[in-house]
Amino acid sequence: MPAIKVLRIENPGRDYRLTIKEEACPHPGPGQVAIKVAAAGLNRADLLQGRGLYPPPPGASDIPGMEVSGTIIALGEGVEHLAAGQRVCALLAGGGYAEVAIADAGAVLPVPEGVDLVDAAGLPEACFTAWTNVIDTGRLAGGETLLVHGGTSGIGTIAIQMFAALGHRVFATAGSDEKCAACVNLGAARAINYRSEDFVAAVKDATGGAGVDVILDMVGGSYIQRNIAACAQWGRIVNIAYQDGARVEVDFAPVLAKKLTLAATTLRGRCPDQKRLIRNALAEIVWPLLETGRIHPVINRRFGLADANAAHAAMAKGGHVGKILLEL
Ligand SMILES: NC(=O)c1ccc[n+]([C@@H]2O[C@H](COP(=O)([O-])OP(=O)(O)OC[C@H]3O[C@@H](n4cnc5c(N)ncnc54)[C@H](OP(=O)(O)O)[C@@H]3O)[C@@H](O)[C@H]2O)c1
Repeated sequence: MPAIKVLRIENPGRDYRLTIKEEACPHPGPGQVAIKVAAAGLNRADLLQGRGLYPPPPGASDIPGMEVSGTIIALGEGVEHLAAGQRVCALLAGGGYAEVAIADAGAVLPVPEGVDLVDAAGLPEACFTAWTNVIDTGRLAGGETLLVHGGTSGIGTIAIQMFAALGHRVFATAGSDEKCAACVNLGAARAINYRSEDFVAAVKDATGGAGVDVILDMVGGSYIQRNIAACAQWGRIVNIAYQDGARVEVDFAPVLAKKLTLAATTLRGRCPDQKRLIRNALAEIVWPLLETGRIHPVINRRFGLADANAAHAAMAKGGHVGKILLEL
């Protein structure tokens, strides 16, 4: 294949820029596939990578982009159950901002029936992250309640829908009344505007004083103590980011008294086998919800390759509900 267009980070740091370059087309290694990319999903971590604060894990492409949708064009040695021409979406450790991306076969899923090929780029990172943190780490069980902070983030819009559809009462926080309305439309039983309401009081009130069983948090900072207060006995708090800071003074007495679990995980550097297990669970339980239209990717905006810097600026500015996509 001739050279392909990719986006490279120039001048990493506060004033980084994404620049289009022409490079050799990558080839899939054993257990991998090459995907002709239709679109890449933007993630907040891409902005951190641009600023030089989030290097890709060892062995991963240093081209940004952790999720794509597109069409398989080549199979590496030993890949079964996937075929050239198949429309797929995939979680990547890097390399998604490119016309051709390489994915481990175990992190590839079909584009769900009824979901637009480009929109499917908004599914992998949100679905993998929401599922593994809430189910594998948070151990959300039948009948239990969930609080999702950042309810209108890429992650939040999928988490609310996914766990509401699976029968849980889901609460969410967001920074405006409009965003709270969006959370309720996605299936939240109650959305809390964190600028005007106290989420601890709100979830206590909504659960008859008990608190919530699992909290998915990307805020940290001042939320750390308040999450502990908002949890029910035996509650689990799972952090996927600390946007409001990772250094705080915490009173752990209620953690002990309520028998809570505090956890935090990242997805990007996990080994292929772990990603394959999450992929399998999504294929069995979440993909049928997408194929019946019960849940859907929430897409805020699509940008063209030449407007990648504007796409990053839009994400940095915030205000979006759902995913921002880059069309290749
Ligand atoms: N650990 C992992 O494996 C993993 C994987 C994927 C993503 N993440 C993290 O998850 C977060 C969401 O990612 P994304 O790509 O979906 O980003 P995004 O769409 O830009 O969402 C960021 C969200 O954070 C919320 N937020 C920021 N500061 C807040 C505060 N002080 N109080 C309450 N909410 C606040 C925003 O809510 P408002 O706009 O309503 O203020 C917004 O919904 C990022 O921090 C990302 O790094 C972690």
